[in-house]
Amino acid sequence: MTLEAVILAAGEGTRMRSALPKSLHQIGGAPMLAHILKAAGALNPAKIHLVVARRGGDLVKDAVERGLAARRAEELLGKICWATQESSLGTGHAVMQAMPAVGRESTLLVLYGDTPLLRASTLARLAAVKDGVALLTAELENPDGFGRIVRGAGGEIERIIEHKDADAAQKKIRECNAGCMAAPAKVIADALGGIRPDNAQRELYLTDVVAAAAAAGARITACHPDAIEETIGVNTQADLACAERVFQLEQAREVMARGLCLRDPARFDLRGRFEFGRDCALDINVILEGEISLGARCRIGANSVIRNSSIGDDSVIEANCVLDGAVVGANCVIGPFARLRPRAQLADGARAGNFVEIKNSRVGRGAKANHLSYIGDSEIGAGANIGAGVITCNYDGANKHRSVIGEDVFVGSNSALVAPLRIGDGATIGAGSTITQDVAAADLAVGRARQRAVRGWKRPVKKTGQ
Ligand code: UD1
Ligand code: CA
Repeated sequence: MTLEAVILAAGEGTRMRSALPKSLHQIGGAPMLAHILKAAGALNPAKIHLVVARRGGDLVKDAVERGLAARRAEELLGKICWATQESSLGTGHAVMQAMPAVGRESTLLVLYGDTPLLRASTLARLAAVKDGVALLTAELENPDGFGRIVRGAGGEIERIIEHKDADAAQKKIRECNAGCMAAPAKVIADALGGIRPDNAQRELYLTDVVAAAAAAGARITACHPDAIEETIGVNTQADLACAERVFQLEQAREVMARGLCLRDPARFDLRGRFEFGRDCALDINVILEGEISLGARCRIGANSVIRNSSIGDDSVIEANCVLDGAVVGANCVIGPFARLRPRAQLADGARAGNFVEIKNSRVGRGAKANHLSYIGDSEIGAGANIGAGVITCNYDGANKHRSVIGEDVFVGSNSALVAPLRIGDGATIGAGSTITQDVAAADLAVGRARQRAVRGWKRPVKKTGQ
């Protein structure tokens, strides 16, 4: 039988207390919905029906389309069929919105957009059901808020009772509905025809499909997740944080298994894709976002944030650096407290020390800016030394201009280099200069007032009697 999936993402998400549709809240830097889509997509279903709300539905659609395009997942995108639920009348009602487009001969896997940690391997076992209804259930320590699995005297599943509708005895049941089921589409369609909103929330519950199918003679089977954490359903910000920690710990374990040295796996956050060579080490509280690659033997200091950047072999990022869209060569030393902004390119052996900001600039092999500098829209030749407090004045209030600084140039401390500007190879700029004209190779340029001495100068004396 062909497999189709439906993912429900049309709930109001009231308990999140947020204007953002719930399924767009992020885990590991990607919307929850992207995670569940990825897991469902791994089963290679013929179609994925996405049920979104009238309000906020466009945002969800946009995010999914942009996210899949960025991942070049056109094939998955092509499988998505959108359905709109006009108002949140319950999970059963949400599935009904997708049913007209579901092939009657297919197996239907129903998923919620707020259970981001479900693994494809778990879903595959559930989707392997041949007849009847397969439910994902788990014994939870704290089952509050979950639908409970009610079993008959012979142990067979009779129904799911929602927490809000459960009596005291039913609330003691610890076996819970994790929020996904699989069954032949026909079975679900027939059972949906028999559900009523006669419950505490006045909603059409998908979970009532179980009792209806059981009454019609269908066999109800329970599958269990590979890991209990997969069942986390995100209803509140606290649930979101909890799911995030589980997700990050999983990623931490995975990168350690690939040979990364993490000083503390509980203080590691990866929100994207991460490649690294052998013998790299990350200190605590490093945040990695987007696409990040490290060569071999790199060391990243504590509290650094690295986004969409690549770093070559044997380079060191000291503590408290922010890198965004930077390309760092081999044997570089960055920071502590350095900021590399988009299109900062450092060749092998370059250094950017504390409170140095570099943007849209190429820093040559072995060149150094060790303290308190701004380098923007510049080229710095190999071996150049940029002294403390040097600023490239790249902006005239309207346009940006380039500074081209040759090889082995020495720029004295606290100089302002007013772009557009060219400084030839081997030139020297005296400390404290404001350089507004090009400097020829090997020249010394000094652009500051000459020092003078005032003989017999008397310091002011504090006046008395006032
Ligand atoms: C649901 C289940 C509960 C299960 C739990 C697991 C029902 C009635 N209850 O409860 O048995 O233990 O998940 O996490 O199904 N949605 C819509 N349209 C709606 C209502 C909801 O699309 O009208 C979507 C939501 O966006 C969400 C999902 O369905 O992604 C689940 O809805 P939610 O309100 O979170 O259900 P729970 O109370 O968590
Ligand atoms: Ca939920």
